Amino acid sequence: MQRLGMSQDRLPWKTAWVIGASSGIGAATAKRLSSAGVKVVVSARTEGALEELAATSANLCVQTVDVTDDASVGAAFNAVMDKIGVPDLVLYSAAVYTPGGLSVLTGDEAMHHMDVNYGGAVRTLQAVLPSMMEVGRGGVGIVSSLTGYAGLPNAAVYGPTKAALISLCETIKPELDASGVALSVINPGFVRTPLTEKNTFEMPFIIEPDQAASHIVAGLRRGKFDIAFPWQMAVMLKFIRLLPYPIYFRFMKRLLRS
Ligand SMILES: NC(=O)c1ccc[n+]([C@@H]2O[C@H](COP(=O)([O-])OP(=O)(O)OC[C@H]3O[C@@H](n4cnc5c(N)ncnc54)[C@H](OP(=O)(O)O)[C@@H]3O)[C@@H](O)[C@H]2O)c1
Repeated sequence: MQRLGMSQDRLPWKTAWVIGASSGIGAATAKRLSSAGVKVVVSARTEGALEELAATSANLCVQTVDVTDDASVGAAFNAVMDKIGVPDLVLYSAAVYTPGGLSVLTGDEAMHHMDVNYGGAVRTLQAVLPSMMEVGRGGVGIVSSLTGYAGLPNAAVYGPTKAALISLCETIKPELDASGVALSVINPGFVRTPLTEKNTFEMPFIIEPDQAASHIVAGLRRGKFDIAFPWQMAVMLKFIRLLPYPIYFRFMKRLLRS
């Protein structure tokens, strides 16, 4: 059996574009890919953090992007094409997260989350797919979340964006398959990153970003559609999704009180 973190050699990609790479899971995955010889363009808004990351490997180079801006995503993709050509792999890992339930549920907050987490993925797909479909190869990984499987307390503005991403990926996968471009939806549980630093509740089965990167690279390499980890959280959330609503809500009310 392949051990996570090992066997980084012979990845099926020569080039990659990782969006949301200035910290956390995106940065760790970019590092993992680059250390296995993949040429990676790393993108996000914070140029300093991207430059710091790029300084760790000659295989990394920087292109800033704001995923809420159509023109910025289009220009970033043009720059990516200049640097590495049509990428073999595109990973969308950008997101914002404000924890909370009804207390954080405002139109502005909900729309901002939708704009970055869902809209940014759509803008990325819109930018990259025509070229990828034209060459008829490569893969796209969209980072969603296990939260997208089932509505959870503390995720009133974040959870719906992740459910939307899963639905989008399920919807477009058959068409993409026909074009030769692989699509994966990546559903992590808790990972220790700047995003989860805000959580004041206990985070079961939390893992480190480099462990998340190992799961992602291994899943993408195997051509899995649903890359969900750690398995304990994935099984739990998939099971919760199947519960009849009276039992589901009894469980959620207990989570809310804890
Ligand atoms: N950590 C977890 O427990 C966990 C669990 C499930 C799913 N996820 C998902 O995993 C992905 C990565 O999250 P993470 O935990 O690694 O969080 P993170 O460290 O906060 O990374 C988020 C990334 O998104 C970028 N970003 C935010 N707004 C952007 C914008 N407008 N334009 C371009 N980039 C933008 C950030 O860069 P800049 O601020 O520099 O732009 C940063 O690189 C996200 O999709 C998240 O929802 C995380």
